[in-house]
Amino acid sequence: MANKILVTGGTGYIGSHTVVELQLSGYEVIIIDDLSNSSSEVLKNIEKITGIKPGFEQFNLIDKDKTEDFFIRNEGIQAIIHFAASKAVGESVEKPLMYYRNNLVTLMNLLECQIKFSIPNIVFSSSCTVYGQPDVLPVTEQTPRKDAESPYGNTKRVNEDILRDTIFANHQLKGIALRYFNPIGAHPSALIGELPLGVPQNLVPFVTQTAAGLRKELNVFGDDYNTIDGSAVREYINVVDLAKAHVIAIERLLNGKNKLNYEIFNLGTGTGVSVLQIIKGFENATGIKLNYKIVARRAGDIEQIWADTVYANEELGWTAEKDWKKLYFRHGSGKNM
Ligand code: WQD
Repeated sequence: MANKILVTGGTGYIGSHTVVELQLSGYEVIIIDDLSNSSSEVLKNIEKITGIKPGFEQFNLIDKDKTEDFFIRNEGIQAIIHFAASKAVGESVEKPLMYYRNNLVTLMNLLECQIKFSIPNIVFSSSCTVYGQPDVLPVTEQTPRKDAESPYGNTKRVNEDILRDTIFANHQLKGIALRYFNPIGAHPSALIGELPLGVPQNLVPFVTQTAAGLRKELNVFGDDYNTIDGSAVREYINVVDLAKAHVIAIERLLNGKNKLNYEIFNLGTGTGVSVLQIIKGFENATGIKLNYKIVARRAGDIEQIWADTVYANEELGWTAEKDWKKLYFRHGSGKNM
């Protein structure tokens, strides 16, 4: 009997790639997603890749009754990977209450059900945004978290505290928070990728949609940062590499390999890349000239961040394989550029 894993936000970008890797590793997967930022088409494409249609229920975890009812009807779940959340830094500055409600209440509902229905393991989708603008780079798991520069980053930091304190108060629970940097790219099949509904908030989907003529022009938010070329620096990690790390984290918990009941890992590549370098890299990889212009900085953005990846490399036995330059860039239709 395969281990049954619940993936919340499983039709989303990182969630769908993680569902594929879980299924390919022999896990039975059931997804909860409210489809607010993804399409149910993703379920068909997951099945095309793995030959297995994941279980799926459409609702938002903010509805406690529906969440409880789900667990009453779905026994035998051994672990949860929790992705479901709003995740755009810029948008969170404009809509803080939506972000605090959606990202905090959903986790609390989930944890209460985990305790009530005796599901011991959870992997939480955290983020490098909990570091705010670090004073020292690269960041390690010991780098002090700072006040996030955006409500989104704050919700991830508070989520981590909610998870940590709930685990400390309930010894039967074990959890791993994975702090990732900027996920980009798509599954080699091009059947799943970063397919946000509406205007993309993140850089790479905006780049690919501009190149595909779906967007008129890309705005580069600031070139007056104290970085290699003035544009902001991030660490871009391939989404399939990221998905594989989630399977490793689940196996660590299921096999009792975790050293503490609450563990944190940075998932990065160790390389910082600027916005203008991403644009140049895209143009070189595709031969397509991008139409972009430099505009003012975006509220909530930090200047630069990248990770020291030694702890995840050694403790998890996981290393990001794909260099951002070798990434295939795909636009909404999932076609290779
Ligand atoms: C990257 C850079 C922008 C859009 C993301 C996720 C968040 C978290 C951390 C996982 C910034 C610039 C962007 C555009 C631009 N990941 N940019 N023009 O803000 O680093 O956060 O990674 O949890 O969920 O949102 O990512 O892609 O929005 O921005 O110039 O049209 O690209 O200013 O410097 P960000 P992003």
